[in-house]
Amino acid sequence: MAKLRVAVVGVGHLGQHHARIASSSEVAELVAVVDPSAERGNEIAEKFETRWVSTLAEILPEIDAVQIAAPTGLHHAIGLEALKAGKHMLMEKPLAATLVEGEALLVALGLARKINPSLVACVGHLERFNPAVVALRAAGFKPKFIETVRVSPFPMRSLEVDVVMDVMIHDLDLLMALVQRPVVDVEAVGVPVLTKVPDLVNARLKFEGGAFATVTASRVARKKERTLRAFGHQEYASLDFAAQKLEILRLKMGEHGPEVVPEIVDIEEGEPLKLEIEAFYEACLGRGQDYVSWADGMEAMRVADLVQRAVAASLVAMGEV
Ligand SMILES: NC(=O)c1ccc[n+]([C@@H]2O[C@H](COP(=O)([O-])OP(=O)(O)OC[C@H]3O[C@@H](n4cnc5c(N)ncnc54)[C@H](O)[C@@H]3O)[C@@H](O)[C@H]2O)c1
Repeated sequence: MAKLRVAVVGVGHLGQHHARIASSSEVAELVAVVDPSAERGNEIAEKFETRWVSTLAEILPEIDAVQIAAPTGLHHAIGLEALKAGKHMLMEKPLAATLVEGEALLVALGLARKINPSLVACVGHLERFNPAVVALRAAGFKPKFIETVRVSPFPMRSLEVDVVMDVMIHDLDLLMALVQRPVVDVEAVGVPVLTKVPDLVNARLKFEGGAFATVTASRVARKKERTLRAFGHQEYASLDFAAQKLEILRLKMGEHGPEVVPEIVDIEEGEPLKLEIEAFYEACLGRGQDYVSWADGMEAMRVADLVQRAVAASLVAMGEV
């Protein structure tokens, strides 16, 4: 069977990994990497034995699919260009920089699907492919309260969007997938530390049906931590994203009364980005539909927008703006 012909658009910090994974795929061929920087483009093209082009337009006629890892502010324009050409697309998260741009992408996708109903459009919410998250979802856990922490040292990139759209959005997407009920209330506080926009945010979300979550994201921490703790009825889960470790404890009736029983969760470790990209290729080849849709990506952005508004209101209330 012919290989899927792909290009990676933007080969910076994350795009280089898209290129690495594409170049070693058995079902896809990395036709080119696209980047306005000749130096960076050539470096990555040489490393992964492909060719560098400076614009997407140059390579569009030769490819079936694009993986977009350009700066978030360009997702909208590059996405529209690829959609017009009818290409399958894996867009890095967040889907777009603003709600208006995200909605415009969804409208354009609807039009493109009138021509090709099997056009694949997914968003790079890669934590959904983290084996520990897959195991948690498979365990039938029904969370009532969830606490997430995603903090890291200052990255010096992706600074055109705040920590909510850039970092917290991973957890907002996961919360939506875990709870599967709409968010009905959001409270949040946040502070700009090293940039002019909030770099550290703590939000409290209430879901229809009564579940709660507290979500902390920071890009000004001393060290990295990415964890989730969830409490359900007589059950508790603790998940470490980086270590891909999941511990589940359930209250069960033992011989001498109720006891807390730890469950052994078998996790086969895997690189979430690779699993996500492989699922994208399978979908493009018509062999699966295991991906995070643009509609889901948009939903995560809508919740992120609610958090941003709540942070802005708290800053106004504190007389910071
Ligand atoms: N899924 C994740 O966990 C994750 C992690 C990091 C970044 N990201 C996302 O990936 C995207 C890129 O982030 P990054 O940290 O790699 O940024 P980066 O700044 O390191 O890299 C961006 C690259 O895009 C190139 N570029 C600029 N304009 C371009 C254009 N018009 N066409 C093609 N390429 C262009 C730049 O030259 C650069 O090489 C962002 O949307 C970010 O949110 C996702």
